[in-house]
Amino acid sequence: MTQSVTVTRNGGVAIVTLDNPPVNAMSFHVREPLQKALLKLRDDDSVEALVLTCAGRTFVAGADITEFGKPVQRPHLPDLIETLETFEKPTVAAIHGTALGGGLELAMGCHFRVADRGAKFGLPEVKLGLLPGAGGTQRLPRLVGPSKALKMIVSGNPISAAEAHKDGLVDAVFDSDLLANAIDFAHDLAARGTILAPVSVRDEKLAAARADLAGFDAEIAEALKKSRGLDAPATCARSVRNALTMGFGEALATERNYFFELVLGDQSRAQRHLFFAEREAAKVPGVGKGDRPRKIARVGVIGAGTMGGGISMSFVNGGIPVTLLEMTDEALQRGLGVIAKNYAISVSRGSLTEEAKTKRLAMFTGTTDYADLADCDLIIEAVFEEMAVKKEVFGKLDAVAKPGAILASNTSYLDVNEIAAFTARPSDVLGMHFFSPANVMKLLEIVRGEKTAPDVLATAIAVAKTIGKVPVVVGVCHGFVGNRMLGARGAEAEDLLLEGATPAQVDKVFTDFGWPMGTYQMWDLAGLDIGWRTRKSLGKTAAIGDALCEQGRFGQKTGKGFYLYPDGRTPVTDPEVEALIEAKAREKGVNRRTISTDEIMERTMYPMINEGARILEEGIAARSSDIDTVWANGYGFPVGQGGPMFWAELVGLPKIVERLEYWHGRTGKEVYNPSTLLRQLAENGAGFSSTAKGKAA
Ligand code: 3HC
Ligand code: NAI
Repeated sequence: MTQSVTVTRNGGVAIVTLDNPPVNAMSFHVREPLQKALLKLRDDDSVEALVLTCAGRTFVAGADITEFGKPVQRPHLPDLIETLETFEKPTVAAIHGTALGGGLELAMGCHFRVADRGAKFGLPEVKLGLLPGAGGTQRLPRLVGPSKALKMIVSGNPISAAEAHKDGLVDAVFDSDLLANAIDFAHDLAARGTILAPVSVRDEKLAAARADLAGFDAEIAEALKKSRGLDAPATCARSVRNALTMGFGEALATERNYFFELVLGDQSRAQRHLFFAEREAAKVPGVGKGDRPRKIARVGVIGAGTMGGGISMSFVNGGIPVTLLEMTDEALQRGLGVIAKNYAISVSRGSLTEEAKTKRLAMFTGTTDYADLADCDLIIEAVFEEMAVKKEVFGKLDAVAKPGAILASNTSYLDVNEIAAFTARPSDVLGMHFFSPANVMKLLEIVRGEKTAPDVLATAIAVAKTIGKVPVVVGVCHGFVGNRMLGARGAEAEDLLLEGATPAQVDKVFTDFGWPMGTYQMWDLAGLDIGWRTRKSLGKTAAIGDALCEQGRFGQKTGKGFYLYPDGRTPVTDPEVEALIEAKAREKGVNRRTISTDEIMERTMYPMINEGARILEEGIAARSSDIDTVWANGYGFPVGQGGPMFWAELVGLPKIVERLEYWHGRTGKEVYNPSTLLRQLAENGAGFSSTAKGKAA
């Protein structure tokens, strides 16, 4: 027997402990000894009951994802669960931490589940482009009912021990001493000679839905509303539905087939790539274990506008009190008012209790006096995007902030090194670039200045995780990773229209690809006046964009932009805009022609990939997977496509270089000029993962 599985005894109760750090994934080296141990204990007459538990920080967090897509060695996870179900003596899973995916499926192979009060339960496979493949779609409906199981499996979101207990997934919850309580629980069952039925034969909770399949289909339709372009959610739902229409054995075998189909598909590969990419992004070259994060007990935020308000809410929601500073009391009250309104909306939607709202609001301290920031450990500036204003703010911060306080800018484009130089402590300065709406979007670009200290980066990463953000460290350049590539994606947006496309046609190519919205819808949402003002300040023009703004068409906020918004939100094609595009094309002597879907993809996505390659070449991102993490979490890049760099490799780098060269030859535009790195990789048949680390490092 290896160390991954140990068996001890407490009288007639056998205790099987799994130990596979860090999260007790069900790797082959756990499955093999576990199967052996279970078979032996099943047939050992001196064993009256069994407790299955885990060492370390959590119960089994799932199958071993690193094994997916490779030949899997027997015993498989379903083999172990089948063995558990053949026990004719009580089996009890004792759960702490998270019982996720294959971990929860293993636990459902036991007759009983008992849990620590802090435990969480879920089947998150859908987030990896999969469905539970070891009976989860069949056993969970039998324990919690098909409606609840459908919600859990299609969303992938975990539930608490209390909820699991209420729903019948868990039989007992303990506040402390989980293992000792689980052993007592098992002794008690053995002593009482409890009649045991494996979960697979408990059909009572299926009866109502079996009698009303149409009703269940309506629930499925509702559950799948947000599963845009992804195969896994529908497959999850189909498999749960099979529990109502098939016998257990047939539905189980069908579930397994669905699993193998999905695991070999590009969508699941893409989502697994993003899972590991996100975890890799938190490992920053040059930041080691010795760089201990500083303690962040209070955060200061300067500016209570769009971003400052959302940033403040993120920290308060994560349990960290905030001092919010504005220029005037009026601006402060306006900002605090918006925050209070946002929380009130959450209460009205039922996602926050009145009590929690009151508690959160009490965690904000408003001020107009910089001296009140003296006790803050981290201060984030979110004032106007002008270097002169940033200079003034950082000068004041340097004067009032305590030694060791971290000073961050939320700037979208400005030079963080220049901002750091406004202080006498540039090693304590960095960029913390949140995305709008900041209390919702998960991405945090952490901008590493030339002088930023490693422990300052470590602190930013740690605090980002505390408030539920996904941190990615990037280097200094105009627009950092995300906005710089966004610029390249939109560089041809005007010319595509002038040459023959319509906003609706281009945007449909985007939404068909899986983006939540297209370029013109996004601009209408952000406000066309922002780009117009920037263009004017740079002496630049955009024939169509400028003309729309001159007519007061600023996008959604004025009810019209590239589209009309009769209900304030839904874009509707406007013939006047099409006429305007045609007129501008005539003015410029452009002969409009039919623009194909391929051309739209090549003239939007390929420049963006090219810019991503330049970013890697310059070392602004440490690895291509960091770029994918930025796009999946900050810009709605469809997760089933894995991020721009992952997708580019699926398309093939040689093809991308060839088409960039074609468009470069035809237009002479720099966005199409293939970067040296992209050319080299394409020539060598290599992928982005072979690239070096750089300035982000
Ligand atoms: N397989 C392999 N490695 C895993 C893993 C898994 N299921 N889950 C986590 N890991 C690895 C991570 O990659 C990371 O590795 P690293 O240290 O080398 O970067 C390490 O474990 C720690 O993970 P986190 O940094 O995510 O640790 P946290 O404490 O923040 O979170 C967790 C713990 C909540 C368990 C989180 O890791 C998680 O959500 N894991 C995935 C759970 C999951 O998706 N389970 C379903 C798997 S699919 C399945 O079971 C199929 C079945 O139906 C047949
Ligand atoms: P905003 O105009 O909504 O808010 C700025 C606020 O800062 C205003 O309330 C203003 O009164 C206040 N302010 C200005 N000067 C100040 C000073 N000296 N002291 C205290 N308060 C001051 O602007 P927004 O959109 O919130 O942007 C703020 C920063 O965040 C900018 O640097 C912007 O580039 C960046 N950003 C904006 C994003 C967005 O989508 N709006 C996304 C990510 C970053």
